Amino acid sequence: RTISLIGAPLEEGAGGQGCSMGPKALRIAGIAEALAAIGHTVNDLGDVTAQYNALTLSGRAHNVVEVTGLARALADAGEAALQKGTAVYLGGDHALSFGSVAAALRHAERIGKPLHVLWLDAHADFNTPQTSESGNMHGMPAAFFCGEPGFDGMLDCPKLPARHFHLVGARSIDPAEVDLLEARGADVNDMAEIDEFGIGAVLRRILSEVEADDALLHVSLDVDFIEPDLAPGVGTTVPGGATVREAHLVMELINRSNRLLSLDLVELNPFLDDRGKSARLMVELAASGFGKRIFDRPTQPA
Ligand code: ARG
Ligand code: MN
Ligand code: MN
Ligand code: MN
Repeated sequence: RTISLIGAPLEEGAGGQGCSMGPKALRIAGIAEALAAIGHTVNDLGDVTAQYNALTLSGRAHNVVEVTGLARALADAGEAALQKGTAVYLGGDHALSFGSVAAALRHAERIGKPLHVLWLDAHADFNTPQTSESGNMHGMPAAFFCGEPGFDGMLDCPKLPARHFHLVGARSIDPAEVDLLEARGADVNDMAEIDEFGIGAVLRRILSEVEADDALLHVSLDVDFIEPDLAPGVGTTVPGGATVREAHLVMELINRSNRLLSLDLVELNPFLDDRGKSARLMVELAASGFGKRIFDRPTQPA
């Protein structure tokens, strides 16, 4: 595969500072080397440069100009990269997904395939400027690309059908988000379902839907998907997250599905990290998603 790395040093979508250092930390942790070691061709395109234009949204949404400026630049850079292969976005807070998912949606439309999005996150990020209590835009990208109103003028892309939005790992969803997700028919898989059925079963069911649709898959991996002790470098920790083993299994199943179009590595805050621990884990998980194995065993039949 040809993999483009695209840095998105966004922190204005989060409640605190630090995520702008995420791309650098992921590079120091060896993201390019890890993917190249598997045998992929890796091109690091550097960090995108945001273009700022005046824009206001009604409701509560902080730093709309900064978020929009970066998201637009990322959508254009991502769209170009997807013509050549796979894109990995080095975040940056989760508001970068306004741009990365826009790129995936534009690309899927161009080649005439449906898109599914797998959101590995403690949160749903399904607020709008009308529903958000915090006003932090990292809590809004999923509502945007599923076509909720309130984001006029930010950026243009086809919308994702909500049933193609697969949330896995959720354990902190705001009441207004719960109502919207239910009303729109999004695929919400909370920690209770993971505990009851196992994360492998949850992923296999999702990936079988992607396969049945002959669709492409965008994966968005938020550091807070993982248990905070294991990945402390994030501003929005919620106890009860995925273990290292569960997270690796998710990424290994994604690799085996052969459907991965693009991957976000988001919310890494190096200012809060413990000696690069979370950055290293994110790199290891990305490598599993692109085929890294400890033993190069043949895949077992289903
Ligand atoms: N739901 C909360 C909010 O809207 C938290 C969002 C956290 N999102 C994230 N990408 N960490 O502010
Ligand atoms: Mn998130
Ligand atoms: Mn989150
Ligand atoms: Mn479908």
